[in-house]
Amino acid sequence: MSERDPAAGDVEGPPEEDPRIAGEKHPVARMIAIGIAASLVGIAISLLIDWFPRDAAGSAGQIDTVYDVLLICSVPVFVLVMTIAIYSVVRFRALPGDMRDGPPIHGNTRLEVIWVTIPFIMVTALAIYAWIVLDDIEAKQPDELVVRVTGQQFTWTFAYPREQVNSNELVLPKDRPVDFRIRTNDVIHSFWVPEFRLKSDAVPGLTTRIRLTPDRLGRYQVVCAELCGIGHSVMRQRVRVVPEAEFEDWLASQRSEQAGGGDQSAAGDSGETGEEGGGGQATARGRQLFTSAGCAGCHTLADAGSTGTIGPDLGQLSRTDAAYVRQSIVDPSAVAVEGFSGDVMPSDFADELSPDEIDALVEYLLESQ
Ligand code: CUA
Repeated sequence: MSERDPAAGDVEGPPEEDPRIAGEKHPVARMIAIGIAASLVGIAISLLIDWFPRDAAGSAGQIDTVYDVLLICSVPVFVLVMTIAIYSVVRFRALPGDMRDGPPIHGNTRLEVIWVTIPFIMVTALAIYAWIVLDDIEAKQPDELVVRVTGQQFTWTFAYPREQVNSNELVLPKDRPVDFRIRTNDVIHSFWVPEFRLKSDAVPGLTTRIRLTPDRLGRYQVVCAELCGIGHSVMRQRVRVVPEAEFEDWLASQRSEQAGGGDQSAAGDSGETGEEGGGGQATARGRQLFTSAGCAGCHTLADAGSTGTIGPDLGQLSRTDAAYVRQSIVDPSAVAVEGFSGDVMPSDFADELSPDEIDALVEYLLESQ
């Protein structure tokens, strides 16, 4: 702002009458100069601080740059305003014995236009920039590894549907794009691996997604970033980024481990061992899918130990034929159940689950009647 800004005169009142600034030519210009100097110091400090852990995903660099740009734009606004406010309070405070009122001020059009226009341009530009970066990060990649993430008080489970593996540990191959599909079985959680930067809430009734490509081998932690109850702070699990070959070995060992439980406990590492008389492998798999696919979050089913009331009680189906149950899963809005809206349930289970997973669920639901 120029030293001859007429706004200065309006705000200050007639300088020659005020003993506090007598002999000082441009108090407002001086105030702004101090504010700008303080802003530069503020920017330098904010950029020197290492805000994030070492990055481990391809998009982390872009995200860190957005963050730096946000700091460069927002720190001066805060520092400039606070510096001018503090300077004014100290510099123009009432002198002892001076009981006069200050001059009345009836607005200043030029100042108002400036302080509306500059923030408007800044916020709009930042929004467009962030949108471009987000659009780039969220673009579909070839050869994506699909990982279904399920949050539940107070643990994460990870399912690799195409590889038919379930795990409590998130293992990812280096340099392969991953498409995370995030659900919750109960309350809102937030899936976050700080080294990957991206974070997404797990919201009841929704599947949220993030895409990223891990690009650094190592061990990290997935944490929950949404206060979800008494165990929120311990809702963390290990993440390993490993070479592709090691990932394949891990998948093979998980598969043989899960199959190795045999007919008695095909539920694998979900912790359920299959109740006696609960049926064969398909039923155990269905029971496990009922939880990992998110059904348990909304539906009551005694056999699975779930008590959700967002959707109908699945222990009491109105029709018990496979075609009806299948349609309820893949096209819920076509199946009206009294007292419930079919639009609440996600309609993408035909994409989320493989055909034999849907078969297993159908079989399980029919056997649970
Ligand atoms: Cu789950 Cu916090």
